[in-house]
Amino acid sequence: MSPTSAVVITGGASGIGRACAESVAAQGRAVAVWDLNADGALAAAQEIAKAHNVATFGLGIDVTKTNELASAVDASRSAVGALGGLVHAAGTVSNQSIGALDDAGWDFVLNVNLRAFPMLVQAMHADLAAAEGAAVVGIASIEGWVGNAAIPAYCASKAGMLGAVRSMADKLGPEGIRVNAICPGFIETPMLGITLDIPGVLDRFEETSVLKRIGQPSEIGEPAAFLLSDKASFITGQSIIVDGGVLATA
Ligand code: NAI
Repeated sequence: MSPTSAVVITGGASGIGRACAESVAAQGRAVAVWDLNADGALAAAQEIAKAHNVATFGLGIDVTKTNELASAVDASRSAVGALGGLVHAAGTVSNQSIGALDDAGWDFVLNVNLRAFPMLVQAMHADLAAAEGAAVVGIASIEGWVGNAAIPAYCASKAGMLGAVRSMADKLGPEGIRVNAICPGFIETPMLGITLDIPGVLDRFEETSVLKRIGQPSEIGEPAAFLLSDKASFITGQSIIVDGGVLATA
């Protein structure tokens, strides 16, 4: 039987995180939407509850504030019940290439994308260990596999997530907790929108995909919901590339 426990989704107010929350709720599971954008988290929670008839909870939180994670887990459990899943979709990017790097810019990206990921898992460990069919999904990127000169911190953070996935899968597998990553290609979200505004960029991104288009957030939400379900019960420690075939020809 597929797990019925609730799922925490960071970055759930927007883009891929929001789509993950929708896909998980469509499976009948309660969701706790966490986001730096508190109004966005509350709005997403309300809309998802209405659309899918599940319990939801919206929380404004900066996931890099490690000492606030335990109380966020407690508040979420109180609101939506036992927690058995996590999607870490909160993410950020900063255009600092070699020559323009500084400590603050590097730490900002690494802290949100990478450091928060194992810290979230640690804060939820007792809940995940107690749940049937517990699973964790980190939203990494194809840029964890290939380089992009403009964004070394982002590439490092996403490659680091893949190492963290393998390490956490090893540690938590014996407890019945699966840990995987999804590596999206170009997905139409507010984060990518800034880049898409540059003339010619959309055409270039579409051309790199063998499907000749960029992806929609739901095309990441659905595989994330799959990885959280018992349909993926023997999949752990993996990084699944969902990129419309960009890396197939890179
Ligand atoms: P988005 O900008 O639409 O959503 C990111 C969300 O994360 C926002 O709602 C933001 O408020 C939240 N967030 C940022 N920092 C936070 C923090 N410290 N604490 C809590 N929430 C925080 O971006 P998108 O595109 O949906 O990105 C989601 C994830 O997918 C990111 O990790 C991104 O790196 C990854 N990704 C996106 C791709 C794309 O083409 N859009 C491609 C590959 C990976």
